[in-house]
Amino acid sequence: MAIERHPAARVEATGELHRLLMPGVTRRESLLEYRGRGGYAPEGWAWSPEELRDRIAASGLRGRGGAAFPTGRKWHGVAARPGPRVVLVNAAESEPASAKDRILLLRRPHLVLEGALLAARAIDAREIVLYLHANATAVRDSLDLALRELRAARTPAPRLRIVTAPPGYVAGEASAAVRRANGGPAKPTSKPPRPSERGVGKRPTLVQNVETLANVPLIARHGPEWLREVGAPSLPGTLLVTLSGAVNRPGVYEVPSGMPLQRIVDDLGGGVVGGASVQAMLVGGYFAGWLGPEALAQGARLEPESLRAWGVSLGAAAIVVVPDWICGLAQAAWLMRFFADESAQQCGTCLSGTRAMAAVFAKLLRGTASPAACDRLHLWAERMLPGRGACGHLDGAATAARTALQVFADEISQHARAGGCGRPETVILPGFDGGDLDVTA
Ligand SMILES: Cc1cc2nc3c(=O)[nH]c(=O)nc-3n(C[C@H](O)[C@H](O)[C@H](O)COP(=O)(O)O)c2cc1C
Repeated sequence: MAIERHPAARVEATGELHRLLMPGVTRRESLLEYRGRGGYAPEGWAWSPEELRDRIAASGLRGRGGAAFPTGRKWHGVAARPGPRVVLVNAAESEPASAKDRILLLRRPHLVLEGALLAARAIDAREIVLYLHANATAVRDSLDLALRELRAARTPAPRLRIVTAPPGYVAGEASAAVRRANGGPAKPTSKPPRPSERGVGKRPTLVQNVETLANVPLIARHGPEWLREVGAPSLPGTLLVTLSGAVNRPGVYEVPSGMPLQRIVDDLGGGVVGGASVQAMLVGGYFAGWLGPEALAQGARLEPESLRAWGVSLGAAAIVVVPDWICGLAQAAWLMRFFADESAQQCGTCLSGTRAMAAVFAKLLRGTASPAACDRLHLWAERMLPGRGACGHLDGAATAARTALQVFADEISQHARAGGCGRPETVILPGFDGGDLDVTA
């Protein structure tokens, strides 16, 4: 049985609900088409900056870039700082298991751009920075075209510029994006100051994920209650889920938040390839942690509170399904190596912590880790490393290690006893790409 390692390369975008991804929009939507679907309708622009901020806060919108931070609170916070201010659209999508931001930008660039323009109005920003990876050339083309259309239509806008960064996991972190936009390397800075205090050009900067911004024009137009009509009360609205790994129908799906994970795998993903069982899954992306099959069976749902109860987070809603017939510990060990390789190598603790955890996982895989090394790994992952890095990278690595130790506990024992589990160690987690998607659906 073969599992595509980069299903995002031929992703289908569909779903139960069509709010951000429209069924008829399978290629780049022009400005004219976007206007035909209600884009830039006067109702959305009737609000004063303060009213806009209040509407977004009342909707309960929370960030879709990983931390699920309340968007309205962020807007009020940045607006309270002395101007001029900046909006940075975080289109990096550094998470290898995620394809949803690129799908939005390839298909509905104007929805995201209108969201950015409304955000700029809400916080009185003079500049909008569109931040993406240099190898995402199709996304860049889509944005370039959209910007040209806006200029040709003489749409009032602050200064808009595109900033690119080389591939890298930490390049998508907010302070790394700001640093890059300021001409530096795409590596995180220590906080304070936060981007909201001192960001692009030393100005207070609102960093917002692409999917978060895509919700903004619709909330401005239809009202805060519109967002709350679907989804879990703790995270109103839909989520764009990138489903990959051993499922029959990988793709990007728009679902109400709070959907049971089992339904996502069975109904949307068409079940596990070859009728196999789920051994484990990553739910929010690489930094969000491993989940075992019992969580599915017991009704774990795609929303922060339900996932927190299982020790994982929602992250970017990027789900990778690992079937029972491959070695799960090999996936976990590969992921720890990924974290070590992708460290910005700026903080000693991150560099040595990620490397040390990866080294013990490599030994767990071979069944050669000493009891003392296992004890140290537990200590690092559970107590010593969380909260110690300048950005969330080390936290992500510690979460991946902590949850892997729980989810793959039986497998770790088996590897210790027999030097392996006899299953193929083929890694199905996508490697870092960050580049173009061939959207064929
Ligand atoms: C290591 C790391 C990588 C990240 N990569 C991304 C990314 O590629 N895209 C993104 O939107 N947010 C990413 N984030 C989260 C951002 O720091 C920030 O929270 C987010 O862009 C804010 O937007 P939101 O509130 O709309 O989610 C990353 C965070 C960390 C710690």
